[in-house]
Amino acid sequence: MVSHKPNILVTRRLPDSIEARMATLFETHVNEADAALTGDDIIAGLEGMDVLVSTITDRIDADLIARLPASVRLIAQFGNGVDNIDIEAAWAAGLTVTNTPSVLTEDTADMAVVLMLALPRRLVEGTQMLLRDRAWAGWSPTSMLGRRLRGKALGIVGMGRIGTAVAQRARAFGLNIHYFSRNRRPPGVEEPLEATYWPDLDAMLEAVDIVSLHTPYTRETFQLLSAERLARMKSGSFVVNVSRSELIDEAALVDAIERGHLAGAALDVFDNRQGIDPRLLALDEVNRVVLTGHMASATLEARIEMGETVIVNIRAFMDGHQPPHRVLPEGARGPAPLRA
Ligand code: 8YV
Repeated sequence: MVSHKPNILVTRRLPDSIEARMATLFETHVNEADAALTGDDIIAGLEGMDVLVSTITDRIDADLIARLPASVRLIAQFGNGVDNIDIEAAWAAGLTVTNTPSVLTEDTADMAVVLMLALPRRLVEGTQMLLRDRAWAGWSPTSMLGRRLRGKALGIVGMGRIGTAVAQRARAFGLNIHYFSRNRRPPGVEEPLEATYWPDLDAMLEAVDIVSLHTPYTRETFQLLSAERLARMKSGSFVVNVSRSELIDEAALVDAIERGHLAGAALDVFDNRQGIDPRLLALDEVNRVVLTGHMASATLEARIEMGETVIVNIRAFMDGHQPPHRVLPEGARGPAPLRA
C-alpha cells in the first residue's frame, strides 16, 4: 500500500476523459508530445514514479527493466498484447505487469471482417477509382467483378477471444469456419460455429481460402506464416492480419502475391521499423493489398474502456490487491514476488 497518491508515467496521450480521471486519482505525468519514447526517455521520466503506463510503442526489454528506478513496481500496459514487454524479465525483477484484454475484442473482430471483405469485393479500389481518380465509367454487367465470400473456408489461427468473435461474424457472411489453436475449444464454442478444428496448421493452410491471424506474438509464433507455410496455402487464397506483423515472413508474403500464388493480403499490421516495404506498397498498384495502420481496436469506446481498465489495474494494485488483469510468464505459478 502507498500512502501518497501514486506517481504514474503515461507514455502516450490517452482520451481526454481518461487523462482527466487519472489526474484526479494519481500524480499523473503524461508524455504531452505524444511521440514514441526512447528507452532513455522512459528511464528519465520514471524517476520517482510508482507506475509505468506503457503502450505498444514502448520497448520494455530486459535492459530497460534492469535500469528501472526502484520506485517502479507496476507496468500497466494500455493494450491487450504485451509483446513489447519482456514478461520474464519483469517477473524476475519482482514487477507486476497488467494489460487490458476483452474491451477491444469486438472492435478488433469487426476490423478483421472489414478487411476480409475489402479485398475480394474490391472496396478500396472501387472507392479510389470513383472518388480519387473520378474515373467511374458507370455500371456494366462485367465491371468491377470481385469474388464471393459465402461458401468459402476461413482458417482462423488462434481461436481465443478475438478469433472466436471473428468466427461469429464470419458465420453471418456464410463462411465455413476452420481453426488451428494451441488448445481445441469445447463443443459449446465449436458447435454453434460449426467449426472444424485442425491440430495441424500446415494441413489447415492447404484447405482454406482465407487465413486470418489472431494469435499473440511470442517466441513460438514468430513468422508462424513462414515462406514454407505461405507456399502451402491454396492458390488464390489470401491473408488477413490484425494481430502482429511478426507473425508473417513479410518478404515471403510479398513474393507469394507477386508470383500470383496468393490473391493478396489485407493487413492492419506490417513491418514499419524502417518504413513500410516499398514492395508491399507497390502491390496497391495492382490492387492486391489493403493496408490500414494498426487501426483494429481504434474506436473511441475501446480506447476509453482500455483506459478504465488501466485505472482499475493501478487502483487494485496500489490498494494491495491482485490487479484483475495480471500478465504472468508462461508456466508461472502463484503470485510473483512483489517488488519491495
Ligand atoms: C492497441 C493492440 O491499439 O491491444 C493490442 O494488443 O494491438 C492494439 O489494438 C495497442 O496495443 C495499444 O497499446
